[in-house]
Amino acid sequence: MANEVVDHGRRRFLTATTAVVGGAGVVVAAVPFIKTWEPSARAKAAGAPVTVDISKVELGQKVTYPWRSLPVFVVNRTPAQLAALPKVDSRLVDPKSDGTSAAQQPKYAQNETRSIKPEWLVVIGICTHLGCVPDFFPEIKPEPFDPNWEGGFYCPCHKSRYDMAGRVFAGVPAPKNLQVPPYHFVNDTTIQIGVDPKEAG
Ligand code: FES
Repeated sequence: MANEVVDHGRRRFLTATTAVVGGAGVVVAAVPFIKTWEPSARAKAAGAPVTVDISKVELGQKVTYPWRSLPVFVVNRTPAQLAALPKVDSRLVDPKSDGTSAAQQPKYAQNETRSIKPEWLVVIGICTHLGCVPDFFPEIKPEPFDPNWEGGFYCPCHKSRYDMAGRVFAGVPAPKNLQVPPYHFVNDTTIQIGVDPKEAG
C-alpha cells in the first residue's frame, strides 16, 4: 500500500518531468525554424521605420532624415507657402496627383497638400528623372530658373522643378511628382517614416 502511494507519486513526478522536457524540446526545435525565416539584423535595419522628432524643425525649414538609404525631406511649410500651392496648379503635370503620379503617394496623402497635416510635407528627396537630390528653394521670389517661383525644389542635374508639395512642373525632364513615403504621426511632434497610419493602428 505504502509502495503504491510512493509509486503513484513517482509516476506523477515522472509524468510531469516528461511533459516539461517535452515542452522544452518543442521550443528548442521551433527556434531554428523561426531563425531561418528571420531577416538579418542588417536587412532589418535597412528596411526599418525611422522615428523622428520634428519639434525643432522651424517654420519654413527643411530637415532631411535617412530612411532605407533614401533622403526623406520633412518641411514645415508656412501659411504663405501653403497659400501659394493652388497658384501653380495650371503649370504642373499632374496637380491632383491622380494621373501619372497616382502611385507617387499613399491614398492618405493624395490631396491638395500631399500630406497628412497641411503644414508638414514628407517626401523622398530623389528626383523622378534620374535620381539626383533636388535643392530646396523655399522663398517666394523670382529665381534664375523661374521668374514666377512660388517656392519648392529645383534639381540641378537637368533643371527639373517641383513645387512646395513636391509636384513636378510641366516642361521639365522629370515625369512625376516626388514620392511620398508611408508615414504617420506618433504625436504632434513625432513622425514615424516607413509605417502608414493604418499599420500603426
Ligand atoms: S535627375 Fe533631376 S532633372 Fe534629371
